[in-house]
Amino acid sequence: MSPSLEAIFQRRAVKVFEPVEISEDLREQILNAARHAPSSFNSQPYKFYWVRSATKKVAVAKLCLGQKPAETASALVVAVADMGSLSATAQGQLEWMRRSNFTEEKIRDYARKAKIGRILFMPGPFGMFAAIKRALFRLLNLRMVIGMPPLSRQDLFKWATKSTSLACENLMIAAEALGLNTCPMEGFDGHRLSKFLGLSARYHEIVMVIAIGKKSDAVVIEPQWRRPLDAAVTVL
Ligand SMILES: Cc1cc2nc3c(=O)[nH]c(=O)nc-3n(C[C@H](O)[C@H](O)[C@H](O)COP(=O)(O)O)c2cc1C
Repeated sequence: MSPSLEAIFQRRAVKVFEPVEISEDLREQILNAARHAPSSFNSQPYKFYWVRSATKKVAVAKLCLGQKPAETASALVVAVADMGSLSATAQGQLEWMRRSNFTEEKIRDYARKAKIGRILFMPGPFGMFAAIKRALFRLLNLRMVIGMPPLSRQDLFKWATKSTSLACENLMIAAEALGLNTCPMEGFDGHRLSKFLGLSARYHEIVMVIAIGKKSDAVVIEPQWRRPLDAAVTVL
């Protein structure tokens, strides 16, 4: 089996870890794998907080409702959907394109698309643009297949969560491939954890916390159950 598939099939949500040090090099490889995940418009709308200091880990584990994987992990990774980074990311990509000698035409084309994207994704003050966008896109949809851009903050969160979750999965598979184990968690107090990390109430929302470490030999993981393929898949 290919090493990538092996890591995918081996990965389990580990509930108890034993204390191990995760080197800076391993941390970088894992986070680097996370950011290589695909993302909507390559917008990479997320931030990762890698919590490794003992005192901060205790505080974050408490905000993960004192769950065992959080309490015993070597590090906790808080994955945050970042809905306020579109402009800065587009700017970063433009600068990179200039440095990498992309043709003027390609740079102009990207700048134009990024501008349209920014306008489409802008909720406006008090979500005022939502009503205008909704009306406009409903009208356009009568004539063409064009879909609907995110209208509310909730829509934007849903949009950013898709890309954030893909990065999380990359992170977990990379950890597994590098001999570590993980447990994704959505059991946390989002409000308190956001405050603890100093997140922006407007632009940031925590998607999940990933406990990372080495599985304790003292725990036995139950066999993995999945729905049969035909319950989850329709081949057309
Ligand atoms: C979005 C998400 C949230 C989860 N939240 C928790 C959690 O709060 N606590 C926990 O112990 N496990 C959590 N899990 C782990 C699941 O329980 C686990 O992935 C599932 O039972 C399947 O087991 P496996 O990953 O070992 O195949 C979560 C998994 C996902 C994907």
